[in-house]
Amino acid sequence: MSDQLKFLVLATGQPSKHLIKAIQKRGHTYEHHQPDNLYMYVSEVESGHDRIYDGRIDLEQPVRLKAKTYDAVISRLGSGLDYGATILQHLTENLDIYCPQTADGLLFARNKMRTSQRLSSEGIKVPLTVFAKNPVHVQFLIDKLGGLPAVGKLLSGSQGQGVMIFKDAEQTNTSLESFWKLQVDILLQRYIDSNKTDVRAIVVGDKISVAMERTGNKDFRANISQGGSGRKVTLSDQQKDLCIRAAKALRLEFAGVDLIKDKEGKSYIVEVNGNPGTKIIDITGHNYFDDLVAHIETKVGHQDEQNDEKQEEASIKPKPYQSMQALEQSINGIATSHQVAEFKRLLSNQNGNKLGNTSSEVHQVIQFISSYNNQRAFPKLVSVLNKWKFKK
Ligand SMILES: Nc1ncnc2c1ncn2[C@@H]1O[C@H](COP(=O)(O)OP(=O)(O)O)[C@@H](O)[C@H]1O
Ligand SMILES: [Mg+2]
Repeated sequence: MSDQLKFLVLATGQPSKHLIKAIQKRGHTYEHHQPDNLYMYVSEVESGHDRIYDGRIDLEQPVRLKAKTYDAVISRLGSGLDYGATILQHLTENLDIYCPQTADGLLFARNKMRTSQRLSSEGIKVPLTVFAKNPVHVQFLIDKLGGLPAVGKLLSGSQGQGVMIFKDAEQTNTSLESFWKLQVDILLQRYIDSNKTDVRAIVVGDKISVAMERTGNKDFRANISQGGSGRKVTLSDQQKDLCIRAAKALRLEFAGVDLIKDKEGKSYIVEVNGNPGTKIIDITGHNYFDDLVAHIETKVGHQDEQNDEKQEEASIKPKPYQSMQALEQSINGIATSHQVAEFKRLLSNQNGNKLGNTSSEVHQVIQFISSYNNQRAFPKLVSVLNKWKFKK
C-alpha cells in the first residue's frame, strides 16, 4: 500500500467528480488550481530557483506554491490550452513535479495534423491524410484520397465539432473555397467506411484502462456528444498495441485514443485526446481515474518501509523511480546516438558531478529521455543508465 499522496490537479473549470472520487478512495489528497490563476517565475540563477504563485483574486497577496508539497500533477486541460500547457511545463520541467502527461504531448494532441504526422512517423497507422494551405490543385488532393466521399477536419476541433464529410465535387469545392477564404486550416482524410462505428480507448501507462465502441445515430460521427451510443468492449491485442503506441508517440501516459476499423478489419488511429471526456465512465461503469491514480502511485509512491528514509530526506523530493527495473520500464523507446551523446553530456554536466544521484535528478533525466522515442537506441541507453549510482 502506498503512502498518502498529494496531487496538484491542474484543471480548467471544476475537476470531474470521478477524478476526485478516485483520489479520495485511495486515501490521497489534492489541491485544485486553474491554470489562469497561476503566475510563473523564471529565475536568473543557473541551478534553477524557478517558482510558481497562486494569484487568485480572493488572495490579498499571491501565495507561492512549493514543489515539495506535491507528489504529482494531474492535468485536465481543456480550453485555453496554450497558457495551461505553459503552466504544466513549468510544473514538470522547472519545478520537477511528476505528471503522466507532458505539455508538448498535449499541444501535439490538440492538433490533428501534427498528431497524424507524429503517428505516421512512428509507424502507427492513420487514415490517408492530405493537408495544404489554400491549394491550387484541389482535384489532385481529392484524387490522392481515392476520390469522394472524403472527411474534412478543422485542426483542433473536438467532440465531433469541426469534422465534416464531403460527398460531391460541387459541395466540396465550394465549401473548401469558403474555409480557405476565411483562412481556416482544414485537413482532408480518406473516408473509412466503418458503419458509423469507432472505438474510444483510455490508455493509462502501458495498459488499456477501458474501451467502448461508439456508433453514430445522427451521422457518420460516432462521438457520444453527437448523439452516438456506446458500449463497453474488449480490444484485440493488435488494437490495444496500436492505442498504447499512439499515446506513447505523443508522450502521454494518459490519453483517450480513437480507433476506426474498415470493412477489411484494418484499424487506424483517428485521434489522440489529451483531455478525454468522462462519458465513457458513465457508460461502462469503469472509472479510468482509478487506474490513473494507481499508475501515479507506482511512479511516485513510497513503500511503508521507506518512511524513515523519507523523514531523513525531507529536503529532497520524493523518489519518482524506485528501481532500475521501474526506470527501464518507464523509458522504453528512446534516443538516437546523437541524443544519447547529448544525454551523456547532461549526465556529467553539473560541476563535474554525475547527475542521477538524487531522485529529482533522475526524474529530470527521465523527462529528457522520454522526450525522444527511438526503439533502436534503447539498449545503448539502458547500458548508460546502468552505470548510474542511485542514492540508497
Ligand atoms: N477518416 C474517417 N473516416 C470515417 N469516419 C471518421 C474519420 N475520421 C473521423 N471519423 C468519425 O468522426 C468522429 C470524430 O472524428 P475525430 O477525428 O475523432 O474528431 P473529434 O476530435 O471531433 O472527436 C470519429 O469518432 C469517427 O466516428
Ligand atoms: Mg474523437
